[in-house]
Amino acid sequence: MEYSHRSRLLLVCSVLVLCLVTQGARCDELTSDFYDWSCPGVYDVVQQQVFAAMREEPRMGASLLRLHFHDCFVNGCDGSILLDGADGEKFALPNQNSVRGYEVIDAIKADLENMCPGVVSCADIVALAAGYGVLFSGGPYYDVLLGRRDGLKANQSGADNGLPSPFEPISSIVQKFTDVGLDTKDVVVLSGAHTIGRARCVLFSDRLTSTKSSADPTLDATMAANLQKLCTGGDGNQTAALDVSSADVFDKQYYHNLLSKKGLLTSDQGLFSADEDVVASTTKALVQTYSDDGEQFFSDFGASMVKMGSIPLPAGSAGEIRCNCRVPNKK
Ligand code: HEM
Repeated sequence: MEYSHRSRLLLVCSVLVLCLVTQGARCDELTSDFYDWSCPGVYDVVQQQVFAAMREEPRMGASLLRLHFHDCFVNGCDGSILLDGADGEKFALPNQNSVRGYEVIDAIKADLENMCPGVVSCADIVALAAGYGVLFSGGPYYDVLLGRRDGLKANQSGADNGLPSPFEPISSIVQKFTDVGLDTKDVVVLSGAHTIGRARCVLFSDRLTSTKSSADPTLDATMAANLQKLCTGGDGNQTAALDVSSADVFDKQYYHNLLSKKGLLTSDQGLFSADEDVVASTTKALVQTYSDDGEQFFSDFGASMVKMGSIPLPAGSAGEIRCNCRVPNKK
């Protein structure tokens, strides 16, 4: 065995032994250098696969970002959204026919299993892929913390109840963030993810005149007319850009749009236009700040992504490193 490989292995083993003997040591804490010894090629592999996927379809960066969000909000970031099966999270209402990017994660996992078998968790792959999705869309670089373990089962009702809906009031969205340890500021900063990606007509057409006697007064009239044209006559799965001005570029334009009633979802526009109360005045002020200051948005976005990526798993979850991201390992 090559010397450097042997010393790496020794180091990994001694860390593991240290974890086992020092009762109470926080071996479950995430770090940015988690794979530096056990699988240093992880960054190259994830980066190359995300880059290739986005060259095919620039939207994929957005899809991978959302995949990470929907993973983290249900039982923490444990890759449970990736598990197949009719009772899986994939088939929960907010995810079915909506969340994308599973094949990209499969391709990354296959490469990593060749390179360092049984080492890199699916949950970490999703977190890293989201980070590169943001970066390659023109967004900020942030240090993705690693060392997650994969959950053994999915939680479909957790996904149905815990993920925010575009139709609910901002106060109840804030509550869902608070339930997982995030706050009002995180809601506004992370909603900035809607500077990239698409949404289907079924998720915003209640704001248009086709379904109501009058259109939503907090939606710009020209934008409403264009959306009406797009959504009329289809099956509701036609998509519109979440950021009407720069659909695939990660920038502060999302917040500018909100100032001029051009947020696509009710939950987007609500951050600026909801009836005045304590929460609404906080979100409104933050929208104003980020529309003025792109640097502030980028640095706060990175910080909130790290926070979201660290949502804890339910107490007592041991987890595993799945061999195939779609199924738990056989015991
Ligand atoms: C604040 C509450 C949120 C609500 C109500 C919400 C809702 C939605 C909805 C309805 C869609 C369109 C889904 C479809 O067309 O099937 C969407 C897309 C998206 N969401 Fe959110 N979202 C929220 C927060 C977030 C957060 C925190 C992130 C990431 C940090 C995020 C990232 C995205 C991205 C990137 C897309 C586009 C995905 C694509 O094009 O494939 N969202 N969101």
